[in-house]
Amino acid sequence: MEPIEDLDVLSEERVRQREADDADEDLDRVKHGYDATAGDKQVYIETYGCQMNVNDSGIVASVLKESGYGLTRDEAEADVVLLNTCAIRENAEQKIRTRLGMLRAEKERRDGELMLGVLGCMAERLREKLLEQEDLVDVVVGPDAYRDLPQLLYEADATGQAAVNVELSKQETYADIDPVRYDSNGVSAYVSIMRGCDNMCTFCVVPFTRGREESRLVTTILSEVSQLVEEGYREVTLLGQNVNSYHYTDENGSSVSFAELVDRVSRVSPELRVRYSTSHPKDCTDELLQVHRERPNVCNYIHLPVQHGNTEVLDRMRRTYTREEYLALTERAKELCPGLSLSTDLIAGFCGETEAQHRDTLSLMEAVRYDHAYMFKYSERPQTYAARKYEDDVPEDVKQRRLEEIIELQNQHSKESNEEEIGRVHTVLVEGPSKKSDEQLFGRTDTNKGVVFDREDYEQGDYVRVRVEDCTSSTLLGTAIGRTTLTEAARTDPITTEAVAA
Ligand code: 5AD
Ligand code: SF4
Repeated sequence: MEPIEDLDVLSEERVRQREADDADEDLDRVKHGYDATAGDKQVYIETYGCQMNVNDSGIVASVLKESGYGLTRDEAEADVVLLNTCAIRENAEQKIRTRLGMLRAEKERRDGELMLGVLGCMAERLREKLLEQEDLVDVVVGPDAYRDLPQLLYEADATGQAAVNVELSKQETYADIDPVRYDSNGVSAYVSIMRGCDNMCTFCVVPFTRGREESRLVTTILSEVSQLVEEGYREVTLLGQNVNSYHYTDENGSSVSFAELVDRVSRVSPELRVRYSTSHPKDCTDELLQVHRERPNVCNYIHLPVQHGNTEVLDRMRRTYTREEYLALTERAKELCPGLSLSTDLIAGFCGETEAQHRDTLSLMEAVRYDHAYMFKYSERPQTYAARKYEDDVPEDVKQRRLEEIIELQNQHSKESNEEEIGRVHTVLVEGPSKKSDEQLFGRTDTNKGVVFDREDYEQGDYVRVRVEDCTSSTLLGTAIGRTTLTEAARTDPITTEAVAA
């Protein structure tokens, strides 16, 4: 899953409050979606980690809103602060501990009149231990228990005791909940299609914090996407920890594969771009590649985490493919989808990694030439197979140096890939003003590259043909040629809508 910078997830607008009519309301009413204690209480949610957490914070906000809570962007006016946490690497947890330390001081300043909640993966991993260790948290809620949050807040408030629900559920997909789309640009939206992961890669804590894979009912996905199109959204990213192992079998026994789902989503509107994240190479089927090839609005981009370039290490990571199989897959993908852009995740310094094995990662990067990569030092996670069975034996300075070599090579590849774009014309979906200037717009190509160009009279949500004139290693700089539609772009360039020499 594509990691994001820490993101403050807050309400777009203040939600109107339900009136608290009776402070003695019983718990049953809380269970049924009305929390008398919510009153005009304001909740501030802060999100760490992956896009899945961003989407989950939207679900949490939606559940709390239903129960009468207001959502605030201003921490100072919050009655409840919730941290939606990440446990993927030790430093992610460390960051949250530091943040809890700051909140302890704030709680003391307010004489205890501030409720604190830890949600998500760290809540699931540490459970009651979090209460013992931190001694300041009021609610601890795992990723499958967000529907209970109003009741847990009520209980904690009423009893003065911490309330915990970290039960994982094989059924919970929050299929019927419309997430609050915090900080949305109104152009692109995440749509959660499955939760959990059954892969048990030996380094990864996700199967322990998120539980078993569960796919969401197809019809609820399609109706959420239709609703987004009606609201004017132009791009959806289908989300899941292991999105391409999506598989839904209905009561009549008919089943829908991920490839079929992507195809169906792409038919909701020809003007809607479809992306997904994050995928596992073992589930990147020919059927799925054909959907990329045949459906012009399914983006010509796949995030395909390889993790490592050496077969023995891949085996110890339990990734279920060899270096050669992965390389054959990327060859096949590029053959079926000319101009395909690939990105990846890489781990440096996994248990037992030798210098030669590390060089295999570098040579695999040379062979694939990713447009982008997320690169990490191995971080041992409690409970995982690697933590139990392997020794975390690559010294810290060696891990760091290997990571730096990987980053340096990727920067070079990203730069060269961007330089090759100069002179090409891309269809860019405008997401909003560029970070540096209101006079310029920022958008993305179908291949997920960021492009900046002069605003002129173009607007957020427009598809614009842009000629690339220059680049940095991370961004393309271009000149707009004119407005277009995806349908028109597909007609002029049937396979990819991209990479047209000017
Ligand atoms: N140490 C370092 N990186 C990890 N990832 C997952 N677990 C670990 C770990 N223990 C990385 C993988 C995954 C991404 C989301 O985080 O590359 O694809
Ligand atoms: Fe973790 Fe592997 Fe599942 Fe990805 S596929 S979430 S790395 S266990």
